[in-house]
Amino acid sequence: MALLSVENVSVFFKRHLAGGDLQVVNSISFDVEAAEILGVVGESGCGKSVTAAAVMGILPQNAYYKGDILFEGQRLSTLSAEGLRALRGNRISMIFQEPMTSLNPVLTVGYQIAEVLMVHKGMSKAEAMARAAELLADVKIPSPTLRIKDYPHQMSGGMRQRVMIAMAIACNPALVLADEPTTALDVTIAAQVLSLLRGIQEKFNMSMVLITHDLGLVAENAQRIAIMYAGRLMESAETASLFKRPRHPYTVGLLNSIPKGRHIPLVPIPGFVPKPDNLPPGCKFSDRCSHVVKRCKEAEPPLIEIEKGHFNRCILNGGDGV
Ligand SMILES: Nc1ncnc2c1ncn2[C@@H]1O[C@H](COP(=O)(O)OP(=O)(O)O)[C@@H](O)[C@H]1O
Ligand SMILES: [Mg+2]
Repeated sequence: MALLSVENVSVFFKRHLAGGDLQVVNSISFDVEAAEILGVVGESGCGKSVTAAAVMGILPQNAYYKGDILFEGQRLSTLSAEGLRALRGNRISMIFQEPMTSLNPVLTVGYQIAEVLMVHKGMSKAEAMARAAELLADVKIPSPTLRIKDYPHQMSGGMRQRVMIAMAIACNPALVLADEPTTALDVTIAAQVLSLLRGIQEKFNMSMVLITHDLGLVAENAQRIAIMYAGRLMESAETASLFKRPRHPYTVGLLNSIPKGRHIPLVPIPGFVPKPDNLPPGCKFSDRCSHVVKRCKEAEPPLIEIEKGHFNRCILNGGDGV
């Protein structure tokens, strides 16, 4: 049994329009095994964060999902609000892109970490503060017993993201959802924070969903990769298989847009991710695809297992010159 199973999950925003609710995620499925890192990759607006929010049970009030999300064999939709709260921050936790908006500016970082432990582990304030200092040491913040007294604004962006990681791992979760955890940081700091996160994931045998728009970031960090576009899964495979032979033209496009060095020009994918209320007919990538043929615009291709564990949603299927 997988630790997390996302089965045919679709996400909608409620709308009072003739067209009905707005669908932003369309029947996606993936599993995350124990101690595994799954990379979820796609450009901005493809539905990555909304999918993570559904798993975490934090979709906005005006949104809902269909399909099944199973965590440790439990169907999350059958849990009470209290049951979900007991999981969140405890067995499943999340790291967001922008720590400044997720940290409370008027509380010390130590207290914010301690609060997680008081809520979920029933620790006293003194116990929890002592543990918070240990956690700051775990995320390699120097002078942790002093820094627990800092307010978020007294820390750099990189330090704040380390605090977010400390909060996320405070209860020893089985699964961490990391949504663009290093995107807001500059390159050097981003690399340090990512390597820290990787070290912690290995040390504590956590599973992680690493969400990013940068395919390069997951190349060395994920065992498997799921490529999302326009709310769909376009390709998914073991990392080695995906990089050895990417099949979907969108995946190839993402690969070509990874910076490879100063003298190698990157080739961005032309055009933009379509808005969920304005998707092209047929394959949702067809209007940006350099391999497009008439058939692509007629019907949306299904996701097909073309090789063991390697799935692709393209009629060309890696043949015909792709
Ligand atoms: N609160 C919202 N109301 C309406 N649409 C939303 C809302 N939040 C996100 N969306 C839409 O859902 C789609 C997926 O967004 P998101 O999951 O944030 O993408 P990603 O994380 O891949 O950049 C986008 O088209 C976005 O505009
Ligand atoms: Mg996002």
